[in-house]
Amino acid sequence: MAARLDVALPEVVELGALTVRDLDPLLAEEIGVWEQRFAWDFRPSADLLRRFVQIQSLYGYALISRTSVIGYAYYVCEGRKGLIGDFYVRREFATPAHEMMLLGATVQGLMLVSGMRRIESQLMLLRAPLNQPFPFSRHLTRHDRYFMEVNREAAIALPAKTPAVRVKLLPWTERYQEEIAHLVSAAYRGHVDSEINDQYRTIPGARHFLTNIVKYPGCGNFSQHASVIAVDDNTGRVCGVCLASLVSAHSGHITQLCILPALRQARLGYELLRQSLLRLVEAGCTSVSLTVTCSNVDAIRLYESVGFRTLNTFPALVWEGF
Ligand SMILES: CC(C)(COP(=O)(O)OP(=O)(O)OC[C@H]1O[C@@H](n2cnc3c(N)ncnc32)[C@H](O)[C@@H]1OP(=O)(O)O)[C@@H](O)C(=O)NCCC(=O)NCCS
Repeated sequence: MAARLDVALPEVVELGALTVRDLDPLLAEEIGVWEQRFAWDFRPSADLLRRFVQIQSLYGYALISRTSVIGYAYYVCEGRKGLIGDFYVRREFATPAHEMMLLGATVQGLMLVSGMRRIESQLMLLRAPLNQPFPFSRHLTRHDRYFMEVNREAAIALPAKTPAVRVKLLPWTERYQEEIAHLVSAAYRGHVDSEINDQYRTIPGARHFLTNIVKYPGCGNFSQHASVIAVDDNTGRVCGVCLASLVSAHSGHITQLCILPALRQARLGYELLRQSLLRLVEAGCTSVSLTVTCSNVDAIRLYESVGFRTLNTFPALVWEGF
């Protein structure tokens, strides 16, 4: 008799069916991957996920092969929008077929949520090639993004440049948060990043985005010390901002950099970024990362000019019109 091929297809189950013990080996591996590929300490996020699993409040899907969890994706719903918060298939099982199986189940699950109109995701841990077919492609827009990094030595060697506009650069304080929300929505009007993240399109959306950055650990721990604001001397209004966070004890992340359209190309972006980098180095960072959409060539030129180098490319996926 011919030998039976032992290629069990994984099964998709809801995350609610899992215990912390089921998910733990995968989370342990994922922590290592974040550290290796992004110098990012994923342990606090993993702790938070464990707590949500414990109270059966983590929504999404897992891939099970035999008895072990080989992949998972969770999502959160914000009104009519679903956000895929994390997506990871274990190294040994990370074939495009498995990844697409998990992604397809997650997107379909979200599409079936009553009132759902839009699904956003940024899949930093995806291994499948970017040019391969994604699930529900009729409703999908894909924007590729770079993960970039600069080291401490390059950051501290940057020369100071006086912006060609009269501004004061100040450390972040909460009282500017509302003005920064206005700045963000003005800076991203018609911008590719507001296709990826619709929070950039409105002032309430930008407020929500900022609250998440400042209060919650999804993008690391917000660093008040390394976040810098530019205030226009003429108007007294906020005209630029660079926000930063700590993603591990030795690495920082730029979570936001934007300048009012009327004041661009005056070296304000450069100087805000330089000052944030120096402050992150002061806080103990040996490297600083950021993500940027591949088509955002002005920003990429700025980042490359200060020494950022691309380490990874990953997709930002948006499903709409389903
Ligand atoms: C990206 C952004 C922050 C740059 O800020 P800025 O104040 O205009 O940039 P700077 O004047 O400091 O530019 C510094 C360098 O960046 C490059 N650069 C910036 N804008 C450029 C443009 N429009 N064309 C060509 N090069 C540009 C140049 O290399 C420039 O150096 P130089 O002045 O010696 O030629 C600004 O364009 C912006 O707010 N864009 C919208 C939001 C955004 O995309 N943020 C980044 C998200 S990851």
